Amino acid sequence: MKFDQELVNEVLKRANIVDIISSYLTVTKKGKEYLALCPFHDDSSPSLHISPDKQIFKCFVDGTGGSAITFVQKYEHISFAEALVKVAKMVGYDDPRFHEEVHVKPVDQRKETLLKCTRDLTTYYQYALSTSEGKEGLDYFESRNLDANLRAKFRLGYAFKNGQATCKYLLDRGHSLKTLEDIGIASINSGITSDRNQGRVIFPIMDEDGEPIGYSARRIAQSDEAKYINSPETYLFHKSSVLYNYHIAKEKARIAGYVYLLEGFMDVFALAKIGIESAVAVMGTALTPEHIGMLRKLNVEVRVCLDGDLPGQTATLKVARALDEAGIKFRIVDAKGNTKDPDEILNQDGEAALRYYLNDLVYRADFALNYYLKSNPLKTLDEKKVLIKQFIPILQDVQSQLELDSYLRKLSEITGFEVESIRDLLKKARRLPKEANVTEVMTDFHPERKVLKKLFLAEREMLFQMINNKEAVLFYETKINVFYDEIYRQIASFIVECYKNNSYVDLLNVMTLIETSEPKNAEELTNELVNLAMEKNHPSECTLELLNGLLDSMNEEKTNISEKDMLEDALRGKDELTQARILADYNRRKMLREEKKEKAIKNTRSQVEKEDDD
Ligand code: CTP
Ligand code: MN
Repeated sequence: MKFDQELVNEVLKRANIVDIISSYLTVTKKGKEYLALCPFHDDSSPSLHISPDKQIFKCFVDGTGGSAITFVQKYEHISFAEALVKVAKMVGYDDPRFHEEVHVKPVDQRKETLLKCTRDLTTYYQYALSTSEGKEGLDYFESRNLDANLRAKFRLGYAFKNGQATCKYLLDRGHSLKTLEDIGIASINSGITSDRNQGRVIFPIMDEDGEPIGYSARRIAQSDEAKYINSPETYLFHKSSVLYNYHIAKEKARIAGYVYLLEGFMDVFALAKIGIESAVAVMGTALTPEHIGMLRKLNVEVRVCLDGDLPGQTATLKVARALDEAGIKFRIVDAKGNTKDPDEILNQDGEAALRYYLNDLVYRADFALNYYLKSNPLKTLDEKKVLIKQFIPILQDVQSQLELDSYLRKLSEITGFEVESIRDLLKKARRLPKEANVTEVMTDFHPERKVLKKLFLAEREMLFQMINNKEAVLFYETKINVFYDEIYRQIASFIVECYKNNSYVDLLNVMTLIETSEPKNAEELTNELVNLAMEKNHPSECTLELLNGLLDSMNEEKTNISEKDMLEDALRGKDELTQARILADYNRRKMLREEKKEKAIKNTRSQVEKEDDD
């Protein structure tokens, strides 16, 4: 069917939105408008408003709105084109364009030849399961609770150990040796052709039309052999564009309104056993653009449910990002630390447990925050800033203040930055147009300075002294060498370079050096430098005592930081008892350090008092 703007308008002209929606919902008139309970969320008082004047609907709670066609599209979970046809039928409007075939699919002769062979082979594998040799495969399926119903539905089978005979069977049925090679099952070894799946149980893989295009063959007994042998890339089979069970899920998703995205076909079976047939699985690969296109076509919420172990959860982060970028609506099953896959949950914990697990769905932001909270892989300041940067666009879309607060708290916990620093950043981002580069917002974001106030102040003072005194520059070079703060570190190295070139320091020279070296953040560096140079209230005299004092403050704060980091590392993943022991140890050492410090201060004091006495 071919349709364009004009055709859509023709249909809309004839459709009365009140009538269309009335055929789905109970609608009551109120003033100029009509009201109904919104079907797109849990609605208790009618919040769906229909305007007969404007011929549009809008829900004042969830914000959904559109034309009569949009309504039907959303309500029925169908494509816009399908909704268009449906509405046209409802209003009795026909148009030749509805009947135009855009293109008649030419028969792909090569594909047909190969499919004939895979159809035969799939049936043969199914048959093998019922033979006495196939009993071994049958027992395996039984041990995994894959009953006759399920076996038939997914066309599970068994490949005879005598793979040569299997090939001969296909040749006898008129398929050529070339075809056997082309479907990817013939393995030719010193002139003998046999089935590469021999002796394994068979999971056929179907295309969108339900035609078998490849196989996954699992070993039966525990051994060193590969767990699964998958079809190689063939004319029919492209791993990157296969979603297991897609042909069934595409019908079921419409009714369900969602589709589960799983990690393996065993998980697809687990869901099927509890009546959820709207589920697909990637075949042990990462999610590809082709997969994303297929998911988009379903036009329903995707529910991502990959393994709960760390690799699975890390993959989920990637999938979430890709789906977001593709503009696909989705939520994620919150594994809550459970590392079993759905198949294991069903077998070990039962149906109710699996149902409960699958319905615990969270949005991307929640998932990502929980992930970082639990795995805490962020070590460096840069990594933490990158995380914050990634969250800006996500947080900007959060409407509820409560929800936002909880995200900010979690982010603060993960990064150690103060909630207010992150909130300020968000405010700044909100003031800019949404398309504005997030990088721009991130300039001047130095939350660590608030946390490490003492260190930051000491470094700032040192930098101030460096602008004005070459003694400070020399001191920095010999005793400090690097600042903790990244911006200060950069400025300091420009000052040092300037000093080396001219054997004196001059503010304008430093600025010129920055400009001509063109670092990415030249503007920020210059701003910071000028700000600092303009500051008053700095000690005017640059004494060695002052510099040494600053150095002490820096070192002290740095010890605190690294001790805390090491403590966090040490505590991670330990049981409570061990954690308690580590904490006690840490506190004891801290107390010892402080005692030592106090003693030292007392000593100097008594020294000074003594000198005073003299
Ligand atoms: N896979 C594969 N080759 C492997 C392991 C896995 O091709 N050696 C693919 C399969 O498509 C499998 C998916 O990756 O369905 C998920 O792998 P895994 O979680 O290991 O499989 P399970 O479904 O748990 O299989 P089983 O329970 O039989 O171990
Ligand atoms: Mn498994």
